[in-house]
Amino acid sequence: MYSFYLVLSLCVLQVHPMALRGPVLARYQPCGLGVIYFDKITEILWRAEINLELYQNLQAVEIEIVFENEMTLYGLIVYQYRFVLFQVSHDSTILINNQSHNFTFIPKGGIPDIYHIYTSLTQRGNITTSVPTVESFRLNRMVLCNAFLKAADTLSSLDASRPGDAVNSHVCGRRSLDHAEVSYVRTEFAQPGDWPWHVAILIKKPFTDLANYQCGGNVISTTAVLTAGHCVFLENVLVDTNRIIIEAGLTNLNDFNQEGRQTLLAERVILHPDYSADQSTSDLAIVIVNKLRYTEYVQPICIWGPVYDKTALFGKQAVITGFGTTEQGMLSDTLRVTNIMVQNDTVCNDFAPDLYPLLLNEFTFCAGFGPNAGINPRNGDSGGGLIVPIKQSDHKVSWFLRGILSKCGLPTGQAICDPAYYVVYTDVGPHYGWIYHNGGLLFSSNVVS
Ligand SMILES: *[C@@H]1O[C@H](CO)[C@@H](O)[C@H](O)[C@H]1NC(C)=O
Ligand SMILES: *[C@@H]1O[C@H](CO)[C@@H](O)[C@H](O)[C@H]1NC(C)=O
Ligand SMILES: *[C@@H]1O[C@H](CO)[C@@H](O)[C@H](O)[C@H]1NC(C)=O
Ligand SMILES: *[C@@H]1O[C@H](CO)[C@@H](O)[C@H](O)[C@H]1NC(C)=O
Repeated sequence: MYSFYLVLSLCVLQVHPMALRGPVLARYQPCGLGVIYFDKITEILWRAEINLELYQNLQAVEIEIVFENEMTLYGLIVYQYRFVLFQVSHDSTILINNQSHNFTFIPKGGIPDIYHIYTSLTQRGNITTSVPTVESFRLNRMVLCNAFLKAADTLSSLDASRPGDAVNSHVCGRRSLDHAEVSYVRTEFAQPGDWPWHVAILIKKPFTDLANYQCGGNVISTTAVLTAGHCVFLENVLVDTNRIIIEAGLTNLNDFNQEGRQTLLAERVILHPDYSADQSTSDLAIVIVNKLRYTEYVQPICIWGPVYDKTALFGKQAVITGFGTTEQGMLSDTLRVTNIMVQNDTVCNDFAPDLYPLLLNEFTFCAGFGPNAGINPRNGDSGGGLIVPIKQSDHKVSWFLRGILSKCGLPTGQAICDPAYYVVYTDVGPHYGWIYHNGGLLFSSNVVS
């Protein structure tokens, strides 16, 4: 516990650093499914995580995976201070067929909540892919992923408008096309289309064509970007709407020719009526534009709401994205992404009892891995989103926005947020009504199942 917290204050930053530690995490999600993904653990080792918790009332489970390449079951991991060779996390019957392309796993004795498989591509001849590409995935003989389902996963499949629909309904929180399967976390190199709802908000300098990076934001409809209220202020003065620029579909701020980049001028700014600079309770603003095109690089995020109880979030992993700073404190021009953990209010309140209780209430929550985390976002990008993947009835994941980054711990006299401190987010759940009415939400599926 820090003894110097008395001299600390929580501060809204005008610069938005987020420094990440830990290796790049490549994640492969066959067919964009919520139930299975592969994390790249080392250059050759992948760990599949199968989340059986998502299914209630399973009596037995049989997991069948057919890989495009020949695979080796493998995993040397540290377990109780010793190196142990693991194939799978639970005692199982394993059937391997068709020259190590087809695998069947049947856990013995009870259904695990999370089942892990450790596997590598067998190094034989020239392997053109480094990803353990799944040709088919079946759970209890039900096909959840195959070539047919992959081919059906197109950009137009996200357009839910039907002939005769007056409004252009759209599926939210999904990546499209090629981007549905491989994404990168904890890296400098988020790929275009990985996080298609994340935008950069720039502010034009007076009397010039130059603009400065200000904040992150989240596409919630073709005409609305949700960001933090404090992001539309400069030195406590509301910024003129005609100085605000939205840059969507980009992963590199300085690549003006990036394919898919859309630049729009703000038409209107709607600041939350209860906005207050020293609180996070309603630190929200909607920037209205005319208007974004949904492409494989620009898609809307779902809003998790209306919901007034945040306790279900406590201890849950989420993801934040932002154009942060590098370790040297310079603004990074590439989009970064990291995991984060939402904490029980008591964790943050206990950590700094004179700070967090002033900010945490039923409209806010705190997140972070604490002072000693190996992977520690130094602090997120103001206005950026805290997003959570949620399995839908089609077994795929939709991403839901739950928090907008509001305040970070800033030691007095320091210009950069202290990574040891938890970050305070404005919870969008209880603000859903306000967001819906002002953001033009017209999603065909925006329901947490
Ligand atoms: C073996 O697996 C490969 C790759 O999935 C497939 O192309 C081939 O048809 C399979 N052969 C048999 C006999 O199942
Ligand atoms: C391997 O999987 C493929 C695709 O599901 C299937 O057609 C084939 O019969 C399987 N082969 C063996 C030997 O299990
Ligand atoms: C593997 O790739 C290398 C370089 O791309 C090439 O020179 C070599 O001939 C390839 N080997 C096989 C077996 O295809
Ligand atoms: C949050 O922490 C308090 C105090 O430790 C505890 O009573 C409560 O059950 C926790 N809430 C959840 C949802 O874990």
